[in-house]
Amino acid sequence: MNILLLGSGGREHALAWKLSQSNHCSKLFIAPGNAGTSLHGINLPFTANDFPAIEKACIEYEINLLIVGPEEPLVKGVVDILKANEQLRDLLIIGPSQEAAQLEGSKAYAKSFMQRHNIPTASYKEFTAENFEEGVEFLKDHPLPIVLKADGLAAGKGVIICQNYVEAFAEFELMIQRSKFGDAGKKVVVEEFLTGIELSVFVLTDGKNYLLLPEAKDYKRIGEGDTGLNTGGMGAISPVPFADDAFMQKVKTKIIEPTIAGIQRDNLDYKGFIFFGLIKVGDEPFVIEYNCRMGDPETEVVIPRMKTDLVEILQATAQQKLEGVHLEIDSRFATTIVAVSGGYPNEYKSGFAISGLNLAEEGTMIFYAGAKKDGNQVVTAGGRVVCATALADELSEALDKSKELAEAINFEGKYFRKDIGFEFGPR
Ligand code: AMP
Ligand code: GLY
Repeated sequence: MNILLLGSGGREHALAWKLSQSNHCSKLFIAPGNAGTSLHGINLPFTANDFPAIEKACIEYEINLLIVGPEEPLVKGVVDILKANEQLRDLLIIGPSQEAAQLEGSKAYAKSFMQRHNIPTASYKEFTAENFEEGVEFLKDHPLPIVLKADGLAAGKGVIICQNYVEAFAEFELMIQRSKFGDAGKKVVVEEFLTGIELSVFVLTDGKNYLLLPEAKDYKRIGEGDTGLNTGGMGAISPVPFADDAFMQKVKTKIIEPTIAGIQRDNLDYKGFIFFGLIKVGDEPFVIEYNCRMGDPETEVVIPRMKTDLVEILQATAQQKLEGVHLEIDSRFATTIVAVSGGYPNEYKSGFAISGLNLAEEGTMIFYAGAKKDGNQVVTAGGRVVCATALADELSEALDKSKELAEAINFEGKYFRKDIGFEFGPR
């Protein structure tokens, strides 16, 4: 079949790499893609948010399967638009409807979904300009720290954890009265702070059945020891050592299954990935957030552990035939370390030549993120530039291989965390 993948990050390079290995993949297109995706398919020159161009390309290139990588087109309704197109009646799509994508697009929507379906999550209340004063009173009695969340998509920046009341009142006012996050923050979810360790759990669902994918742990902070500013993700590991069978059983029965049942009960059209951002509090899993897509850089460790043909399971997902489908998983550890531009996540420069991209060997892979072709060279074109992934029997061995590779890849201003996976062994 002909496949179109939307997106341009390391996640999309990893997906393109895996899709292109399938016997079912005739032609693979990526829009807009990056220098890495062009090694496995044909990059098309439009963005994942250009819906008319996407519709046109699906018709022109006789696309059979469309996979939406990032959340923004999903939250803006790309799936509904394509489904409404008569000429695309047979197109298989991986991604939820606009309504179902509100599980990521609106924190208030997700919280009310979880409450309605008894899914463990932090207790919360939502406020807007209309009940602003009530919100201030609520904050006064709220234990510290206080978690404030902009309701809508805010490019990963919409969550503020306030350590004192002065900060909480100020941020609350900035969000609601002064549009700190634009319209996304005009509604604010005030949430109980949960203490524990986070992990990312992924499923593919056809709306009725689900396939559990390998779980992962992502390292979001820029600095070693999980310090400094939040980023899109500086590295990831899979499997997660503390996610043992007993814990994962709880994740299934208390979180995944009630979520799929809730999707059915609420009549949501959901055929695609669900990313559960979880926190383990004591021995219990709680949902921090839902995402309606795969994680990045988690995909760069999840996909390399997947032995099953990806096109086959995506086809089964879109056709609502996941029942009885089994996933074969590589039992080894996968790790990835992201090399980023100097200055990221603040301002940084782009356009520097990247060397060492040919150094991946058996058991290692380089997935490009912010990297584009410039003549014969590949140059930096974003904050997160490349991901150095490795597979090995031991976590420490995989981490050493990832680190060696991240060290060998070079561009001006390169930075990477040397302590990914630090909690899980003497390093
Ligand atoms: P989110 O955008 O909802 O994933 O939140 C970003 C980050 O804020 C999460 O990865 C957590 O580290 C943290 N966070 C969000 N909500 C909570 C909470 N209720 N308790 C503790 N930490 C939280
Ligand atoms: N790595 C976190 C995310 O993709 O949102």
